[in-house]
Amino acid sequence: MQIRTVTTTPFNDQKPGTSGLRKRVPTFQQANYLENFVQSIFDTIGVPSRATLVLGGDGRFYNREAIQIILKMAAANGFGRVLVGKNGILSTPAASCVIRKYNTHGGIILSASHNPGGPDGDFGIKYNATNGGPAPEKITEAIFAQSKKISQYRIVDSSDVALDKAGEYKVGDMMVSVIDPVSDYAELMESLFDFDAIRSLLTGGFRFRFDAMHAVNGPYAQEIFSHRLGAPSESLMNAVPLPDFGGGHPDPNLTYAHELVEVLYGENAPDFGAASDGDGDRNMILGKHFFVNPSDSLAILAANAYLVPGYKNGLAGIARSMPTSAAVDRVAKALDIPCYETPTGWKFFGNLMDAGKVTLCGEESFGTGSDHVREKDGLWAVLFWLNILAIRKQTVEEITREHWARYGRNVYSRHDYEGIPTDAANGVMKLLMSSFTKLQNAQFGDLKIKLCDDFSYTDPVDGSVSNGQGVRIVFTDGSRIVFRLSGTGTEGATLRIYLEAFEPDVANHHLDAQSALSQLIEIALQISELHQRTGRDRPTVIT
Ligand code: G1P
Ligand code: ZN
Repeated sequence: MQIRTVTTTPFNDQKPGTSGLRKRVPTFQQANYLENFVQSIFDTIGVPSRATLVLGGDGRFYNREAIQIILKMAAANGFGRVLVGKNGILSTPAASCVIRKYNTHGGIILSASHNPGGPDGDFGIKYNATNGGPAPEKITEAIFAQSKKISQYRIVDSSDVALDKAGEYKVGDMMVSVIDPVSDYAELMESLFDFDAIRSLLTGGFRFRFDAMHAVNGPYAQEIFSHRLGAPSESLMNAVPLPDFGGGHPDPNLTYAHELVEVLYGENAPDFGAASDGDGDRNMILGKHFFVNPSDSLAILAANAYLVPGYKNGLAGIARSMPTSAAVDRVAKALDIPCYETPTGWKFFGNLMDAGKVTLCGEESFGTGSDHVREKDGLWAVLFWLNILAIRKQTVEEITREHWARYGRNVYSRHDYEGIPTDAANGVMKLLMSSFTKLQNAQFGDLKIKLCDDFSYTDPVDGSVSNGQGVRIVFTDGSRIVFRLSGTGTEGATLRIYLEAFEPDVANHHLDAQSALSQLIEIALQISELHQRTGRDRPTVIT
């Protein structure tokens, strides 16, 4: 095997964000850009002799080219085998599943998740460790440090692998197994959920619509919903993956998944609607003319987990990211199990799951999952809901309202200001942080501030500390406003405002979240001077 060592110079912008390195496609297409980052990963993790790596992505533009480069670099860096999804495809949860099932030395996932794709869209890459989860901060920081001093990378000269056929191939001395991207994952889903009950539901007049948003989950949905569960063919929308997601923004929320929203809020709407994102790890849940807030969805899954075969023996604990509403905390309390509050990003859940401290976890950003893998999992969440619906035989709205009636409602919303100038966004955050003393005990109408801080987390398993995880303004009645800058965007800055208030009274549960939160929204805008500083008068996305 002929290994070529190529001299290179560092790029200074290869710092992984909330979930890996994300940049515009042209940035990744620069000579040596991808190669530098991949070599920095291999240098950081070390490659045990003849180790196995998992490789796959969400199929977005540049996926195939990147896979061929990484295969040749993996061979030159001493891997013995790479398991790569057919056509270079693996959804993020499926990649996590394959890493765990075959005990590999981790995997490389190519995705920019819910960000748009295409020649001018975004591309991304991240390393998942041997537990199947996103590399912890310690490793991502070491990869960044390595990328700043890299001087050479290794690659073999070899022809491209035919990714469109499952089978065994060779790149240098390394074996490449092109695997079916769906089967291992589908088998795992069958082991967790009551497929017979869901099949009876889906073939018994219940009307279901799943929007794959022309992203990676199309083939997974075909196999699981159509083939294994018998859902009628009209149940699937946009199930053919496209490198540019059909020009859409593959983010399952009320703004970007409007096609599905129109169906579920239209005349003769189906009973249940769901969508997932570019790489298949997010989910949105809709009932007939009804939206389930992701924080509520996590709480409802937790409260009903005993109905699902994979979780019927109970949950060890639950974790949620700090900005996620405390709805699930109330369920954990009722179940008498621990509830952990982590910073934003799935990488913080891995240690808790590995240590057996939590079974379910979730984020307000349409991410829900469990310890069956170490990523959030879009189709898993949809199957979980279907399993509950099949057993309870009630509508999505009835289940949600009964939940609120029992636990109270954590009224919740997130306002995103996307693509604002970085300086203005930083200015808002700085202003807030310098106002803590002034804000402490401040009174706004009947609301009084109890605490303001910049969230910091100490991992209960390894003791590592993560600072600067978002500004919290907490009121004496438990209401909260959280401000955070996004760590996944590629252009300008995105400022997120998270708003939460608790409403115990059933008589008020019908209220629309925006009106119920209007006082908090006003306070948030006032103390952050957001409109004056950014020139924006409304959010880009409201959840
Ligand atoms: C966003 C979400 C976060 C999620 C991440 C990856 O990160 O807010 O919860 O883990 O995407 O899907 P952010 O852009 O806020 O840094
Ligand atoms: Zn995603």
